Amino acid sequence: MQLVANPLILAESQRPFVEFIPTPQDVVVEMLKAAQVTKEDIVYDLGCGDGRFVITAAKMFGARGVGIDIDSTLISKCRVNAEKAGVAERVNFLTQDLYETDISEATVVTIYLLPELNLLLRPKLLKELKPNTRVVSHAFDMGDWLPDRQGVVKNARFYMAPDLFFEQDATFYLWVIPAKAAGTWCWEVPSIISKEPYRLHLTQKYQILKGYLTMQNRRLPIKDIKLSGNHLHFTSPAYLKGRKVTVDYRGTIEGNVINGMIEVKEGPLSKTYPWRAFRIRENP
Ligand SMILES: C[S@@+](CC[C@H](N)C(=O)[O-])C[C@H]1O[C@@H](n2cnc3c(N)ncnc32)[C@H](O)[C@@H]1O
Repeated sequence: MQLVANPLILAESQRPFVEFIPTPQDVVVEMLKAAQVTKEDIVYDLGCGDGRFVITAAKMFGARGVGIDIDSTLISKCRVNAEKAGVAERVNFLTQDLYETDISEATVVTIYLLPELNLLLRPKLLKELKPNTRVVSHAFDMGDWLPDRQGVVKNARFYMAPDLFFEQDATFYLWVIPAKAAGTWCWEVPSIISKEPYRLHLTQKYQILKGYLTMQNRRLPIKDIKLSGNHLHFTSPAYLKGRKVTVDYRGTIEGNVINGMIEVKEGPLSKTYPWRAFRIRENP
């Protein structure tokens, strides 16, 4: 669906303005399901309109929520809607500019803005949100920050008035805020495997990682590398007792430490070992 930017407001704020057009309710539900919202979550809807994302997150999924809108009349309606839905205790609505709001406590962020507004918001999302926070956008993507997944709701009903709607497939996009994984990581392995420490060298663009391992002067390729939030997984070949085997690495990144497990898949040393790696440099 095309949302129309208002050029008058663009002149004042230097940003295109997106008017209130509600996300169809079945799309709201699918987006919250895709984000796996639970009662542990704090859902922020940036440009919350009538409050439907936050109210649905509280009513159906038991979450807490905060809705932000620049239009104080809409915020008053949100509060009335939350009372009617019986979730006023779990939600909060604020008249604020979404680009100025502190969003750091959110664990899920929902948006329905415009492509260029998503791009303006992108640095704030990546800077302020914690790793593992899910961002779900109705209709518009984030440019070269590719989504972790996307979904389509067939024949969603877009209401223009209570009795006037049109049906159209609605697309949504979901991203998981990635941990900072770039750099050089180092760890020791049991001496039966190697007396030398291993190093992992990673470059990162959003959630996309590239890199390799080194051990002594040997460079080992890594495969199937995936970062989802702070969960890191990859495999690499290793040469144990003269035999080439596959080693599976899984861990979670907390600051400059990775904690997880290394699984040697084949051969006489096949077993799962603890994995604790330390970032020793910011660059690879
Ligand atoms: C397309 S509507 C989406 C409403 C709701 N999120 C939904 O999906 O049903 C966009 C909303 O963003 C609000 N908005 C636009 N610019 C904003 C800004 N800078 N700060 C806060 N809200 C804004 C508008 O008032 C409008 O209610």
